[in-house]
Parts: sequence; C-alpha cells; structure tokens
Amino acid sequence: MHKHHSALGVATTLKPAAPVTLVRPQAAARAARFFSEKFPGRSLYAVKANPSPDLIRTLFACGVTHFDVASIAEVRLVAETLGNEAKLCFMHPVKAEEAIAEAYHIHGVRTFSLDSMDELAKIMRATNDATDLELCVRLRVSSEHSELSLASKFGAELGETRELLMATRQAADALGICFHVGSQAMSPQAYSDAIERVRAAIVDAAVTVDIIDVGGGFPSIYPGMEPVALENYFDAIHRGFESLPISYSAELWCEPGRALSAEYSSVVVRVERRRGTELYINDGAYGALFDAAHIGWRFPVALLREEESEAELTGFSFYGPTCDDMDHMVGPFMLPDDVQAGDYIEIGMLGAYGAAMRTGFNGFTSEAVVEVEDEPMASLYVDAVPVRRRATVIKLG
Ligand SMILES: Cc1ncc(COP(=O)(O)O)c(C=O)c1O
Repeated sequence: MHKHHSALGVATTLKPAAPVTLVRPQAAARAARFFSEKFPGRSLYAVKANPSPDLIRTLFACGVTHFDVASIAEVRLVAETLGNEAKLCFMHPVKAEEAIAEAYHIHGVRTFSLDSMDELAKIMRATNDATDLELCVRLRVSSEHSELSLASKFGAELGETRELLMATRQAADALGICFHVGSQAMSPQAYSDAIERVRAAIVDAAVTVDIIDVGGGFPSIYPGMEPVALENYFDAIHRGFESLPISYSAELWCEPGRALSAEYSSVVVRVERRRGTELYINDGAYGALFDAAHIGWRFPVALLREEESEAELTGFSFYGPTCDDMDHMVGPFMLPDDVQAGDYIEIGMLGAYGAAMRTGFNGFTSEAVVEVEDEPMASLYVDAVPVRRRATVIKLG
C-alpha cells in the first residue's frame, strides 16, 4: 500500500484524478485499545462497518479478537484474514441454512443469534443438533436515542421472548440475550433502557443467562453530532449489567462497528465543477458517500490547498459523479467560499459505512488507497486533535 505523510500531501503531490481512500491504522489501533481496556467486558468488531482485511488485522493486534459477522462472506473473510485465532459470532438473526452449516462445520463458529423459533429450528438442523452452541436471543428495543433506527427489522417482542428463551435455553450450551439500540446512539440512556427490557425478559422466562450482548450503536463524532465521552456509555452499561438477575459468571459483550472504524478512513475528492454553491465532485452516493446522500449525514470536510484559503466559510452541497439526480448530498458542507474546480477536498470520518459502501455504478469507482500518518478530522479517543486546515469538526469529547 502507498504511504504518505498527510492528506494534504496526497492532494498536492499525487494530484489524483479519481477519489483516494485514506487509511489511518494508528486511529483504528487507538480505538481498539480504548475498547479493549475500558469496556467492562468483551468487544466484538462488527465487520459490516468496514470489512478491510488491513483494518481487521489492526484491530486484532490491538486486542479485539472476537468478530460479529453477518454473512457467510464475512465469516470466510475473517477466517482467511486471521486464521482460527479469531472467534467469530454469526449475529444476523435471519441466516441461510447453508451459511449456518458452513460456519459451524467448516469455520468452527459456535455463536449464533436468533429472534424466532423458526431460526432456532434452522440452527439446530444445520448443526445436526449440536450441543456446544452459544445462542443469543435478540430482543427488539427502542432506537429513540439513535440517529439510525434498527428497531423494525429484527428482535423478538416482549410477548414472544418467554417461549423463545425457554426453548433456546434447552438447546444451547450457553444462552445469551442481545439487542441493538440503533446506530450512532447519542445518549447512554439508550443502553440503560434496553437493559431494562432484558431484565423484564429474564424475569418473565425465569431462565439462567450466560451472556449479555449490548450490541453496537456506540457513536462517533460528526458535525452536529458530538456525543458525551464513551466512558459514560460504558458506566451506564456496567451499572445495568451488574444489576441484572444473572449468574456471577455471566459475560458482558458489545459489538461496535462505527466506533471502531469511523476514524480509520477518509476520502480525498476533486471538484470537477462549481455551480453557485453546488460542487460536482468525483465521489458520491454510489461511492463512499451513501449516508451523505441517502440520509443527509454531514461529514466533516477540509479544503486541501498548499496555501490556506482566507475566504469565509460557506455552506455547499455536493453532486456525485454519476448521471443520476439522486447522486446528491445536501450537506451543508462548510468550505472556504473561493473553492473551485480543480481543488481537492478531504471528506472525513468515512471509515464506518463509507469506504465499505462503494459500488462501480456508472463506471465510477476507485480502488486507490493510501496510508497516511496525520490525525483524523475528529476523534473520540484523544483529548485534542491538532486543528487541520479548517476542518469543520474539531470539538472533541
Ligand atoms: C447485530 C449488529 N451488531 C453490531 C452492529 C454495528 O453497529 P454500529 O456500527 O452502530 O456500532 C450492527 C449494525 O448494523 C448490527 O446489525
């Protein structure tokens, strides 16, 4: 992989004609060490957020040895990347029977999630009624504190959990309960409330529970979304976990995707045209900017010029490179008012659900990746990131 000192250096010396993904292994390593040292239990990396093998190896080297995989392709990817040292947990509640069988018989996966009696039956069929399974029942919980809801698709309702927990207890060597509060949870209360649902389910079913998995949802930092420090989330989870009616030896797990990967990547794009406050850039909705286009997510931006612009900051929207009207990102993205065609812009915090979403639609894609040493545009893991080139997010938790 190419290496460079900084985002600015990539823009000014390489002058790339296609978007370049920048990766910052040091930022991912810092996030992994933070979770390994401070989360009061075990942290599984949710591979879907960014399946880069380099990132997976970095996280593993910094203490994240367990992985939440959601498809058989993710199972194979982590198994190929790390061999059998990594522990894989297949946490998609609706899986293909063939995927379960391959995961169990070929890759040694023992941990699966489910939210229905049908899925329990499927897991038991696919594993030939195995007796060494860790089965996690997923509860439906509120997404009210999160920017992206995960409350509709998966999770057993409170009325259904009794039967499901009792049947799963019978089938499993270890019984877990898991949930997901939605992505980018902006308050620790999300976890406290969800743990109360767990308590109600345990009391109702009167089963012994061995694992509590509080899922993902841990936030990163974006313009207009500046969460409290992650320690507050960990404290709320620890308090809730300690008060649950579970055995002394019960384990606490979490499955962060975004929080472990957001700071890992950004993208350097070029402005191909300016029309008023609309900038036509060479990456977009079908590239790394899916969330900017489809849910109006605002990412931090910085103009990459040798000589810093003195012009006032103005709100811009972006058009991506495809011929599609939907390839539009409203922003506003705050950039110096004199930005023009030929300028390069760094769009930050794209390590989670950004770099991973790139397609080749309309012929616009880019494989270019450069490792850089400078800091990400913002961080939840250091007190202060040096202010870079008028990045629009610099306030830190
Ligand atoms: C089961 C499960 N765990 C973990 C995650 C990661 O969530 P986040 O990136 O919000 O931490 C997801 C995301 O969809 C998920 O579905």
